[in-house]
Amino acid sequence: MKKILITGGAGFIGSHVVRRFITSHPEYHIVNLDKLTYAGNLLNLKDVEHKPNYRFIKGDIVDAAFIDQLFKTEKFDSVIHLAAESHVDRSISNPLDFVMTNVVGTVNLLNASLKNWKGAYGEHRFYHVSTDEVYGSLGEKGLFTETSAYDPHSPYSASKASSDHFVRSYQDTYGLNTVISNCSNNYGSHHFPEKLIPLAINNIRQNNPIPVYGKGENIRDWLWVEDHARAIDVIFHQAKAGSTFNVGGHNEWTNIDLIRLLCHIMDLKLNRPEGSSEKLITYVTDRAGHDLRYAIDSNKLQKELGWAPSLQFEEGLGKTVDWYLANTDWLNNVTSGNYQFYYQEQYSDR
Ligand code: NAD
Ligand code: DAU
Repeated sequence: MKKILITGGAGFIGSHVVRRFITSHPEYHIVNLDKLTYAGNLLNLKDVEHKPNYRFIKGDIVDAAFIDQLFKTEKFDSVIHLAAESHVDRSISNPLDFVMTNVVGTVNLLNASLKNWKGAYGEHRFYHVSTDEVYGSLGEKGLFTETSAYDPHSPYSASKASSDHFVRSYQDTYGLNTVISNCSNNYGSHHFPEKLIPLAINNIRQNNPIPVYGKGENIRDWLWVEDHARAIDVIFHQAKAGSTFNVGGHNEWTNIDLIRLLCHIMDLKLNRPEGSSEKLITYVTDRAGHDLRYAIDSNKLQKELGWAPSLQFEEGLGKTVDWYLANTDWLNNVTSGNYQFYYQEQYSDR
């Protein structure tokens, strides 16, 4: 039975990837390594935690000695690396946390892979999950392709860009079998409510202001998280060593149009008069260095590996709202404690 290490499996995307691999690949043993930061939550995997081909290990990828020992004892066949500090606003307040986890943590995993897979790199795969934010910001036209130049603007995207470069350098220098995918904004269940969509859902249900940065004109390309997990499955199994794939939904929305659609859906689901949620929209001070537009060209993935997004945005957003309204315990749990402090710091003087 092949043993696959998935890092960051207790987070938003990681939990969907872990669930997909446990259920679609009973031939693998899945080990989920996660530090359980504020963003990691074992409740995200409650439905699959007792499966016989799954195990959770709590640990920090920044701890090189721990990672090295873990690889020695567990003898992983491959790695799918998602663990990261992932929120742009937090990277503006605490850049060093992002350097440590996203850069040093990734290099620790690369070093452990190199050491423990020596002489047989072809049989093992290091899959690094990255973001479209490494490419910087688009103007009104154009799409990010796999050959777009890197041009990160936030400490988060700079740290992810750096980790991508390290992964490629280990392929080119040492012959490690690596793959990278760069994905656009994900949405769906179990998304931590510091990010735009779950934050807005949580605020609307509580009749709190919906903070929209600047004029709300920035554009993001939204993808259903389960479509991303499926793309990761396909790329992990079919991509050539050393290759890169862009993953995206061909689904661009300005933030303000997205929020208006969400308000409309929430009014219907909560039986509120049409237009009542929109009254909560509040324009606040813009994010520093705010990228204007992200949009992904995922033709390479569609043509070479036959992947395509499965859900229309309106349907996916409706399902997402349903999940949050049915899981208010989850929301209340993750927004208690430190979240209140974070929210105060982040939004009080905007
Ligand atoms: P998330 O913040 O929800 O989850 C990150 C997980 O990593 C958490 O479970 C956390 O506990 C864990 N973690 C953090 N630091 C760790 C450490 N030092 N050691 C071990 N575990 C640690 O993030 P997400 O949105 O699920 O993103 C997952 C990955 O996908 C990231 O690499 C991110 O850059 C990338 N990505 C995210 C998106 C998106 O829209 N969310 C889009 C493209 C790519
Ligand atoms: O593009 C992929 C990236 O998408 C991932 O790599 C990141 O991990 C993920 O967090 C996400 O980054 P964004 O910065 O695009 O996502 P966020 O949800 O933070 O913001 C989406 C847009 O909404 C962005 O233009 C900023 C704006 N925004 C965000 C928040 C939290 C607001 O207007 N108000 C808010 O309160």
